[in-house]
Amino acid sequence: MGEPVSRTDLRHVFEFYKALGLDEVPLNAGGATEENGMNKKGKKDKQDKNKKVSAAEKAASLEKLFKEEIDGCTGCKLSGGRANIVFGEGDPSARLMFIGEAPGAEEDKQGRPFVGRAGQLLTNLIEKLGLKRDEVFIANIIKCRPEANRDPEEDEVSACLPYLKKQIEIIQPGAIIALGRVSAQTLLQTMVQISKLRGNFSSFEGIPLMPTFHPSYLLRNPKDKKLTWEDALQVLDLLGIKAPAPQAQDKTQ
Ligand code: URA
Repeated sequence: MGEPVSRTDLRHVFEFYKALGLDEVPLNAGGATEENGMNKKGKKDKQDKNKKVSAAEKAASLEKLFKEEIDGCTGCKLSGGRANIVFGEGDPSARLMFIGEAPGAEEDKQGRPFVGRAGQLLTNLIEKLGLKRDEVFIANIIKCRPEANRDPEEDEVSACLPYLKKQIEIIQPGAIIALGRVSAQTLLQTMVQISKLRGNFSSFEGIPLMPTFHPSYLLRNPKDKKLTWEDALQVLDLLGIKAPAPQAQDKTQ
């Protein structure tokens, strides 16, 4: 992470945003830095929004969000059954965010996202991409475990989604990978199947979003791991991060 971005990379990033119908480039997109002037463009009010925020400030904002708004939340019926709120974890100024569906049993027990079997697969994917788990940020659409791992219900998503949106606003990632149907359909406000969404960039509040399969699905359908791998490589490319050497590729288990 944090590699210099060439002029060709920048041109690709601008072309990509144009293709998405955006006339401005979000902070951090495609490796944008203050040094290369990308976030100095735009009008005054946008400049304030895009001003460089340090990792320490972002960490403080996330902590404040947790302490003042999320800790002890009773905004939906899941609060009664949880052991822990799973806030999410990782680098507060990560360029890449992974967003899953909801905590499972192990996540509820530990208060951390993706720490069960599906989490192990996600961690392997991140590492095979040449990244470390603590360099990205991992969160979920909802922060409390639905009983028996059922799908989150509409009222639960509406109560919890504003917290995730605030996290994204603080972190300002350059890209989001939406893991699975619930995450992709919720963030993109669509009912299109994940098998059709995956592999193509969309945009969530101006941030490039790549839908892909959920790690739990990949545990049941290992043959599709290569598709998720390809989706993730597209994201690395967008961010201007060098793809790992071929011998390290496609080993996501
Ligand atoms: N599945 C998810 O969607 N999120 C987790 O944190 C764990 C499993």
